[in-house]
Order: sequence, then C-alpha cells, then structure tokens
Amino acid sequence: MKGIILHGGHGTRLRPLTHTGPKQLLKIANKPMSQYALEDLRDSGITDIAIIIGDVYPEKVKEYYGDGKKFGVTLTYVYQDKPQGIAHAISLCKDFVGDEKFCVYLGDNVLRTGLSSYVTKFESTAKEAIILLAEVENPSQFGVVEIKDKKIIKIIEKPKNPPSNLAVIGVYFLTPKIFDIIQQLKPSWRGEFEITEALQLLMDSKMDLDYDYVSGWWKDTGTPNDILHANKLILESMTKSNNNDGIFIGKNCTIDPESKIIGPVIIGDNCTIKHSVTIGPNVSIGKNSHLDNCNIKNSIVMDDCVICASIKVIDSIIADGTEIKNNDSNESVYLLGERSKITL
Ligand code: G1P
Repeated sequence: MKGIILHGGHGTRLRPLTHTGPKQLLKIANKPMSQYALEDLRDSGITDIAIIIGDVYPEKVKEYYGDGKKFGVTLTYVYQDKPQGIAHAISLCKDFVGDEKFCVYLGDNVLRTGLSSYVTKFESTAKEAIILLAEVENPSQFGVVEIKDKKIIKIIEKPKNPPSNLAVIGVYFLTPKIFDIIQQLKPSWRGEFEITEALQLLMDSKMDLDYDYVSGWWKDTGTPNDILHANKLILESMTKSNNNDGIFIGKNCTIDPESKIIGPVIIGDNCTIKHSVTIGPNVSIGKNSHLDNCNIKNSIVMDDCVICASIKVIDSIIADGTEIKNNDSNESVYLLGERSKITL
C-alpha cells in the first residue's frame, strides 16, 4: 500500500503563523504536525509516500523531510500549484500510486491511535474505500455522513443542517478507481474539488465503501485553539505511554532547580530556564530557547525564543525567533509570527 500526505493549503486561520511556512510544519510538542502523519503511515508499514506540497514555502518541506531516509521512508514530492481541494491533490498522484491501494492522510490531522488496524482491514477487503469517522460538536465544519441500517447513505461537505454529528476525518483508504471518479467532479461552492463529493459519487456508482470509528482522540488543527488542544492531548499521551511525571527535557539544557515545571511539559535541546520561571501544564518549549522571569501555561513556544520578562503567557503560540523582553505584570495572550520582537 502507498501513502500520500497533503502538505499544501494556505492555513489562513493560522496567520500570522503561516506567513512564513506551511501550517503542517508548525510544531506541536516539538514536532511538525505532518511528522505525526508520516510516522503513523510508517509505523503501519507504509513507507513509499508522496508528499503534496503547495505554494507556501514548499522548499521548507523538502528541506525538513529530504528523501525521507532519516524518517525510515522513501519520499516523492508532488507539486500542487494552488489549493484546489483534496480530490484535486489526490488526482496529481495517479502515476505515483500505479495500481496499488493507498492511504491519504491530511498533514494537519493528528490521531491518537495510529493506523495499523485500519491498514490491515483495508489490505484484506474488496471494498473500494474505507473512511474513518469521529463524533464532533460542530459537524457543519466537516464532511459529515448520514448512516442508515449501519450503511453510509450520504456524505456531505460542511452541511448547514448536518444529518449527524459524525465527521469524516482526514484519513482516507482508496483504490485507483477513485482517479476516474475525481475526473467527473466539478468545483464546489468553495471552489474546490471535494473528496467528500468523490466518495458520494463512488457510492452512487455502486462501488462499496466501508467505514470505521476512530478510537482515541482525533484533531484537525485548523485554528490556534485546535493546535493548543492538540499540544495538550499529545503531551498527555506521551505522559501516559512513558508512565512518568510528563516532564520531557532535551539535551544540554540548563534548568535552575528553583524553577517550577508542572507536567505535562516538553523542553527542547539547549534551553536555559532560570529560577524565577514557572512552566506548565501543557507547554512545549522549542530548542535553543531562553526563559527568565516568566510564567507559561497551556502554550507553545517554538525554537530560538527569548522570553525574559515578568509576564504570564497563557493560551499562546509563539513562533521561532521571537523575543519578549523586560518586565510587566499584566497577563497577556499572544499569537506571534516568526521573528516577531516585542520589548515590554
Ligand atoms: C477537510 C475535508 C472534510 C474533512 C476535514 C477533516 O476539510 O474537506 O471533509 O472532514 O478535512 O479534517 P477542510 O480542512 O478542507 O476544511
């Protein structure tokens, strides 16, 4: 089976964080979100993977993943010149896929349990597709299914009046039959070739589609709050699987014993944390960062940041190279783009 990771799109709801790179490279718990997808595919035995890159700094994706060797996979890059939808992106991979079954993974989706059980199921079925469903509180923001007698009878993209609260998540198991179906699609109201419409057409053509429910949590990381929630969920999962206090500290860090770290927290390599600092819970600090005087809670601070100010940083995402200096006792919420500098 082959794998496809979608790595395009403009990530408009995440600006300014996405002015300087694709959203899928934003780090959650110190790892680009698309790396979770790549590792899920690899860990389920799918190592021949295409990454579809878009027009927002695609070279940064190639620079990070290279030929895939260091991640234990072989990578092929496919360009999508502008975002025209998931189905359009898939159609660009016809040659890459050949006559194999394949799994499409949206690079901004994060799953708790990995893919192995679904891959095994799809390998041994004669069905033309398997989709994964999850209950959500806001179904009108997703593709949604209507189920009758345990069969999916309808799949609708972002319906105003959702027939259920079951969202189609961004992991699709498909066969090459989908390529002919995608050719029949017309752009939707949002100007995209929708995968949900392709799946509906597949069912209308009397081809079999199966589904499964996602076990464990699933997160689509479209907004800053989604990213912070995913950060919390991943840190909690890491704590559970390591069965420890949830404090993960990288190499060459200088951490003053009088600083206060409340897990779950991850701190990257080469960080300096001074005595007056409180970090956590639910905080990721990237590598080469320097913290003094601050109190950071439920936030992501990326690489090469300096926060030396008497401030409380809560529910915030602070991108690479940000500098916050001097003191102020006000509580503040920040969403800062790469290379921002604030002197308080
Ligand atoms: C896309 C799909 C939608 C699916 C969602 C999952 O939505 O179109 O059907 O439920 O991914 O993350 P988009 O992220 O393009 O809004």
